[in-house]
Amino acid sequence: MQITSFKQYEEDYKKSIENPEQFWGEVAQNFQWRKPWFKVLSWNFNEPQIKWFEGAKLNITENCLDRHLEKNGDKPAIIWEPNNPEEESVTLTYKMLHERVCRFANVLKRNGAKKGDRICIYMPMVPELAIAVLACARIGAVHSVIFGGFSAKSIADRINDSQCKLVITADGAYRGNKQIPLKDVIDDALIGCPTVEKCIVLTHVRTPVSMLKGRDVWWEDEVKHVNDVCEAEEMDAEDMLFILYTSGSTGKPKGVVHTCGGYMVYAGYTFSNVFNYQPDEVYFCTADIGWITGHSYIVYGPLSQGATSVLFEGIPTYPSPSRFWDIVEKHKINTLYTAPTAIRSLMSFGEDPLQGKDLSSIRVLGSVGEPINEEAWHWFDEKIGHSKAPIVDTWWQTETGGIMISPIATVTPTKPGYATLPLPGIQPILVDENGNEIAGNSVSGNLCIKFPWPGMLRTTYGDHERCKQTYFSTYENLYFTGDGCLRDEDGYYRITGRVDDVLNVSGHRIGTAEVENAINMHAGVVESAVVGYPHDVKGQGIYAFVIYPEMHGEAELSKKDILQTVTRVIGAIAKPDKILFVTGLPKTRSGKIMRRILRKISDGDTANLGDTSTLLDPGVVEEIIEAAKSL
Ligand code: WT7
Repeated sequence: MQITSFKQYEEDYKKSIENPEQFWGEVAQNFQWRKPWFKVLSWNFNEPQIKWFEGAKLNITENCLDRHLEKNGDKPAIIWEPNNPEEESVTLTYKMLHERVCRFANVLKRNGAKKGDRICIYMPMVPELAIAVLACARIGAVHSVIFGGFSAKSIADRINDSQCKLVITADGAYRGNKQIPLKDVIDDALIGCPTVEKCIVLTHVRTPVSMLKGRDVWWEDEVKHVNDVCEAEEMDAEDMLFILYTSGSTGKPKGVVHTCGGYMVYAGYTFSNVFNYQPDEVYFCTADIGWITGHSYIVYGPLSQGATSVLFEGIPTYPSPSRFWDIVEKHKINTLYTAPTAIRSLMSFGEDPLQGKDLSSIRVLGSVGEPINEEAWHWFDEKIGHSKAPIVDTWWQTETGGIMISPIATVTPTKPGYATLPLPGIQPILVDENGNEIAGNSVSGNLCIKFPWPGMLRTTYGDHERCKQTYFSTYENLYFTGDGCLRDEDGYYRITGRVDDVLNVSGHRIGTAEVENAINMHAGVVESAVVGYPHDVKGQGIYAFVIYPEMHGEAELSKKDILQTVTRVIGAIAKPDKILFVTGLPKTRSGKIMRRILRKISDGDTANLGDTSTLLDPGVVEEIIEAAKSL
């Protein structure tokens, strides 16, 4: 199933469009099924209703673990690199990982979990996180991993939305020289989570934690009470595999639902091809498993292909900005898949951190999460890849399950700043505001996908109507991505960024409405408006315009209070970079905030604000411009 030439890419692409069912049916043959499908695809984008590999039975963990045991049982599945470089790294072979997953699956059962139950996972980047994820999949429970940067309130909202029965966490996490008290945060969250019956706690940083009798149990104790034999649950291809919450343009994050069969096929196929993974290579994706990149390209994609996947607990700059390069040298990394924000941050330290580091093992580089600027692209290419390693700029989303538009390493061309060409099976289309197709090359429009692919979301948990409204109603019969896109003279795609009210801060998706809601929860704040502005390292920064008439004490302290409120309500990742106190916001007569104007002000581009005549009070704009000069 690996594409080895440009000609083959073209042929496969053509075939995938002309006969998608045959194409994906063949790809799916490379996986292990308990029972075959009777229909590869049935779909309609109106309801939406999408079914891949209907009737087929499988368990994704048999594909990620059991099937490798015979030939590759002793091959490293996961290499764990701890936050502290002085600590030993840990290698889990396929055999060991299989054993631990089965054992922990039995722990889940012992604690009352069964097929279909939702389980929340809030853990540091340790091997046990991957084990917990796979153990859920083993017994057919639906995991909902929540990134360690989210607050108790965010966790509680997510747990309640999907009525999780169990929580898996750790005492705490290390992030650089910081410690995050994960269990404390979970304790705060669980005060408002009536559906949670049990909480399994891994010891990691060994900070003191409260353990509530009847609810909380230690991971290390539990595994002693069970054995490591656990038959995988037989799952229908369309049974739910996991939920992953992501932000949209409304205030409430939605639970994107992925199912077993299609997701597995898509994550595995795209991993193998995009990175051109070769047996015995070491692959390192620097994402967190709390995001879709970690689900698809640390856990499921690589493991389904029998790859060796590096799992890194720490951050790129700890203990020094050489850390990634030390890891590359130490584990002889062949593929490094990271985010533009990390590249830009490391670039800012100059070349010193690279001195004396042996990066010669690198064969393929990857970028994900946001548009990569040309400067960062060239630095990555020259300084890290020594101009020999193709960079795959992979465009995709939580909702797409896997990579959609991207070069195929060593096979299709790359172009700085471009995600380039759609993978086989992917049919992108650019449309104007009215949904009319913009055909031909050298054009820009809104990016939609006009045909299903196996990894696509099936619904948003508990609210199918929302899935329909968000993705399938803007344009008839199309999946709308929310991204703007350019197709150049060669037919290559370049993603230009979100066209909705969603920010991309350091590759993390944050809804402006969510941040506004959080700011508005601060006592005394009357109203706020949040926009993104260009930020050198983060890609986008968060700029908040806040009306706070009877401020308590000094303005600077009030800003800190607001940041604290946002940290409480959402998490530190959503803290505004800039807060500007204003007395009014630019609104239309119907009361709609004109963000276009605020975006220009935040960008310092006030020369041409466009038409402001429809504003209720045009004077407010001058005042905001004046105030903004002081930031
Ligand atoms: C949004 C999806 C996909 C995993 C990480 C983010 C932006 C993602 C690229 C890229 C330009 C990109 C898009 C997309 N995005 N990859 N290679 N070039 N933009 O997943 O949190 O669901 O965010 O990230 O705007 O819609 P996500």
